[in-house]
Amino acid sequence: MSRSAELHARAMADMAQNPLAWEPRLRAYSLDEAFERTVAANGQAYYRYLHSLVRVLRPRTVLELGTCQGGSALFMLLALPEGSTLTTLDLGNRHPEYLDPVREDPRLRVESGDSRDPATYERLGLKEVDLLFLDTEHTAAQLEREWELCRPLLALGAVVVLDDIYLNDVPRFWEALEEDKLDTGEALHWSGFGVAAV
Ligand SMILES: C[S@@+](CC[C@H](N)C(=O)[O-])C[C@H]1O[C@@H](n2cnc3c(N)ncnc32)[C@H](O)[C@@H]1O
Repeated sequence: MSRSAELHARAMADMAQNPLAWEPRLRAYSLDEAFERTVAANGQAYYRYLHSLVRVLRPRTVLELGTCQGGSALFMLLALPEGSTLTTLDLGNRHPEYLDPVREDPRLRVESGDSRDPATYERLGLKEVDLLFLDTEHTAAQLEREWELCRPLLALGAVVVLDDIYLNDVPRFWEALEEDKLDTGEALHWSGFGVAAV
């Protein structure tokens, strides 16, 4: 079995065996009920999958491109070991409200910047990234640029996750990606979800 397939199988097994692993950790923050209900309702399958993937991988350094409301970042953060960090980047034109209750968590870095700009990565100062989640604009051109800039930042054995691999011309990028990779099909997100082990 390839490494991407093995990691995927382990994450899926964790998700099935511990479907609510994230809940007690979420409750450990002072949350109001409305927030909890919103998160539970919007907790997409791929959020829970990312949570399980972090539980399985126990990464030290996580980088997410594309924060939006912060849902995926929240679910990854809730599984992140102490001492690890999760940096999530967006253009900064939207408030990531899902991250409000966890903003003081020392493991979390919420950053503004353009994922296509090399200066962004110089400022972030990240290296040896163990888990990279690519989830910005879903076009092949943008992913090619992000891949060019992020590939040198990856640790040996890093895992890269891509949302929406069926959208727009993203299949062109996905098919050209020369890594051990797995198209998880529509099981996690109707628009496609890919996992690659480098
Ligand atoms: C699909 S949403 C991210 C969803 C989020 N990861 C989740 O699953 O909850 C895409 C985000 O990428 C951001 N984005 C698009 N182009 C970007 C760029 N060049 N640099 C940084 N962020 C970008 C958008 O502002 C948007 O908030």
